[in-house]
Amino acid sequence: MAQAVYLQTYGCQMNERDSEEILGMLGAQGYVVVDREEDADVILLNTCSVRAHAEERAFGKMGLMQKLKRERPSLVLGILGCMAKAQREEVFRRLPQVDLVAGPAEIYDLPDLLAGVAERRQRAGFGAGARMLAVDRKVRPLDRRPATDYRAGQVTAFVTIMEGCDKKCAYCIVPTTRGQEVSRPMEEILDEVQQLARAGYRQVTLLGQNVNSYGKRFPDGSGWVGPGRRRALLQLETHAGSADLPSEGLDEPRLVDFPALLRAIDGKTSIERVRFTTSHPFDAHEELFQAMAESRTVCEFLHLPVQSGSDRVLRAMRRGYTAERYLGQIARLRELVPDVALSTDIIVGFPGETEADFEATCNLMARVRYDSAFVFKYSPRPGTEAAGWPDDVPQSVKERRNQAILALQEHISREKLEARVDSEVEVLVEERNRRDQLTGKSRGNTTVVLEGPDALIGELVGVRVRRVTGTTMIGELAGRGASAR
Ligand code: 5AD
Ligand code: SF4
Repeated sequence: MAQAVYLQTYGCQMNERDSEEILGMLGAQGYVVVDREEDADVILLNTCSVRAHAEERAFGKMGLMQKLKRERPSLVLGILGCMAKAQREEVFRRLPQVDLVAGPAEIYDLPDLLAGVAERRQRAGFGAGARMLAVDRKVRPLDRRPATDYRAGQVTAFVTIMEGCDKKCAYCIVPTTRGQEVSRPMEEILDEVQQLARAGYRQVTLLGQNVNSYGKRFPDGSGWVGPGRRRALLQLETHAGSADLPSEGLDEPRLVDFPALLRAIDGKTSIERVRFTTSHPFDAHEELFQAMAESRTVCEFLHLPVQSGSDRVLRAMRRGYTAERYLGQIARLRELVPDVALSTDIIVGFPGETEADFEATCNLMARVRYDSAFVFKYSPRPGTEAAGWPDDVPQSVKERRNQAILALQEHISREKLEARVDSEVEVLVEERNRRDQLTGKSRGNTTVVLEGPDALIGELVGVRVRRVTGTTMIGELAGRGASAR
């Protein structure tokens, strides 16, 4: 009988996409996907390590699943993704019933790993003797992507363009969990986007930890940065902030970089809308802004996480830019892409963050006027550079700063949304919500709800904004295929 698999995903969009790939692979192996743990033969959690809270949720959930396994010893339990890589054997110590621990670079090994567990069980029974630990790959073998595929939606789709991260932000576990950066060849991405367009998808979101350094290294070892230049770049990144380091060569034309990829998708495929995430300000250049401006399908939206508005904190975080440089980039982007919508990530309570540092962040946010912001309380991640420093901002202060930033952002978001009332926006209608309204996104990534028939799902429509509630625009149909933003 077919094996039933239950998969729950934590964390970012990269993880969501990985989960789709996992389900695609397992589907091709004859597994059926179930949405209740009780019905599953295999329970997998695709986990996140970005903050302690994300890990605790997955540990808690798997703790409950262990109860199921006590009643049904044949159940297979697996921890996949970032926490698998960050915690490794520690997972087995805290969750003794778990059978499989596999990192993000090992997702394509999953069918083999599950077969391995089954095989060992024949020899060693259902206990610890059948365990598999697979966390040692440094890079995901992107050239071994499975041909089979699965996608959760019908209108919008994620397309992974690269994997891993070569940055060394002091707080961040991702370079440890996701390994070295490696990019998929452009032709392969173009084929995938075109296949999606042919299958009726209207929007793709290009995914990577830092899409702006796309093309640095391909699976065959080629890339636009040779060893010498790469060393210079790395030096620049690690010593970011000091002005006397070599920067020559950084503006050389590159063979295939992210702006070139955007232009190629815009020019050579028939997809209607393109989004991308995430961008590191260090690698977001003029060329990116120009490609955004000149590519009709690329939405006028940029998620450009600043993390802090204090140069002192930015330096300690090893971010490689100052608040002034960041503001300059935003100003240039706004010249080239007027009306671009912006979002950011902010960390409050980074080690050593003073009240003055915090105010600098508030000032930066007031100057940029983001459309939305994600705010996180600093959470030390074992193995990162910052975990070696005292986590010296008290929890209550982190909480207060978090609330203050959220209130500031809410005010700005509201003003920006209200300024849109009575204007027309282009909406890609995605689905019907629980209140029986159609919902979709504007080009600027705002959720828009409207009344209308199911036939509009998957269509680009013009919507007149009537009012706003929270972070949502309420509108009515203005016309089909409108060219308004
Ligand atoms: N603590 C708090 N927030 C973090 N982020 C990354 N690492 C940490 C950490 N250790 C935030 C950053 C990043 C987002 C995805 O999560 O703001 O952009
Ligand atoms: Fe979480 Fe970061 Fe891993 Fe995404 S890449 S799952 S956000 S730790």
